[in-house]
Amino acid sequence: MHNKMPKEAVIDNTWNLMKDGYYFIMNRRNQLNSDVFETRLLGKKAICMVGKEAAKVFYDEEKFKRNGAAPKRVKETLFGVGGLQTLDGKTHKHRKEMFMSIMTKNNLEKLNEILKDQWDMALHKWTKMKEIIFYEEVQEILASSACRWAGIPVEDMNIPTKQLAAMFESPAKIGPLHWHGRNARNEMEKWIRKLIEEVRADKIHPPEHTALHQFSWHRNLEGKYIDSQIAAVEVINVLRPIVAVSIYINFIVLALHDHPDQKEKLKNRDEKYKEIFIQEIRRYYPFFPFLTAIVNNSFIWNDYKFEQGTLTLLDLYGTNHHPELWDRPNDFHPERFTDQKIHPYSFIPQGGGDYFSNHRCPGEGITLEIMKLSVDFLVNRMTYELPEQDFSLKMNDIPCIPKSKILLRNIKSI
Ligand code: HEM
Repeated sequence: MHNKMPKEAVIDNTWNLMKDGYYFIMNRRNQLNSDVFETRLLGKKAICMVGKEAAKVFYDEEKFKRNGAAPKRVKETLFGVGGLQTLDGKTHKHRKEMFMSIMTKNNLEKLNEILKDQWDMALHKWTKMKEIIFYEEVQEILASSACRWAGIPVEDMNIPTKQLAAMFESPAKIGPLHWHGRNARNEMEKWIRKLIEEVRADKIHPPEHTALHQFSWHRNLEGKYIDSQIAAVEVINVLRPIVAVSIYINFIVLALHDHPDQKEKLKNRDEKYKEIFIQEIRRYYPFFPFLTAIVNNSFIWNDYKFEQGTLTLLDLYGTNHHPELWDRPNDFHPERFTDQKIHPYSFIPQGGGDYFSNHRCPGEGITLEIMKLSVDFLVNRMTYELPEQDFSLKMNDIPCIPKSKILLRNIKSI
């Protein structure tokens, strides 16, 4: 026996999802007073879930699968077809190991060195400019660092910054902005695929530790090299999200502006404070809204039936603001991380569970390193003014970027 899952009486909620954005699941969770409820999306029954216990179930592979869960518009822009995000079981674990193999301490140090150089050069350039659009400038730093780190042969003139950004800015957009993302992905895939074929033909030789080298020579479970098209999708799975960290770096400037005391604390305190500040940025600000999966085999959870084949959404933003998991969740308060243990299913800005056996983001370590370096530059290495501008965030704009894209003026290096 099982209970009827709380349900919203609507014909379809797709429009409300676009209207409510990051608040969609939490608003309904509050109305229905339940961390799990049934709704209808894209003309079909769907389940929405939020919170630590929901996340634990969502990451149970017996119960949920990823293959077939991501909407076409997300695969055509953000993920790519045939990439890690859409795999399950043994195939996923094997491919995930390939990803994790480039996340060594040595490799992270290499990335850090490249980033430092790029930041230094950019800062030098900014001091000669009247005003900069920080979001776009940081993307240049990240894109050129990502390409160099991944072993992509690039010159300063041909860094594909705009294409990489279009892939994560476009999934939820409509019209030309969305198509711009699809075109960018097609162009990038063609280019990287050609490079992979050149590596395999012994024409170019990226250094051994790089993604281009490792992924070109990776063998699947049958012992064969992976299709060059799929290998290209996976190399882009390294480049694109590194550029996406620009969104978090924007939020760092925003937090320093909204909470001037934080700047003083970051200047005067140790590495530990920098870490908890960064964690709070990732908890507090909106980035990845929710994940999608499909019920693999019917099961009962908390007396509710999950029927095989049902699309299910796990709210990441909502879990990071859940009132039963976080004290005053809507306050920006880094100190909460001093004594709050980070649980793999309650703090999930980049997914939950384990890096190797689940879909949890393999780039979390990189993200933290890039953010730490950025805090250091913004607080200790430069001064700047923020001219009059529109800092507002639209909570149904996914991803969420301040309207002005953060203008900085009168930048000085210190
Ligand atoms: C900008 C900050 C980032 C955010 C907010 C973010 C967020 C996420 C989220 C929410 C997932 C999905 C987890 C799941 O499906 O359970 C994910 C997966 C993934 N991320 Fe990130 N990520 C970021 C940075 C990075 C970086 C820097 C890299 C690589 C260098 C990366 C590579 C990936 C890959 C390859 C996956 C798929 C993992 C899998 O399916 O097993 N991400 N990320």
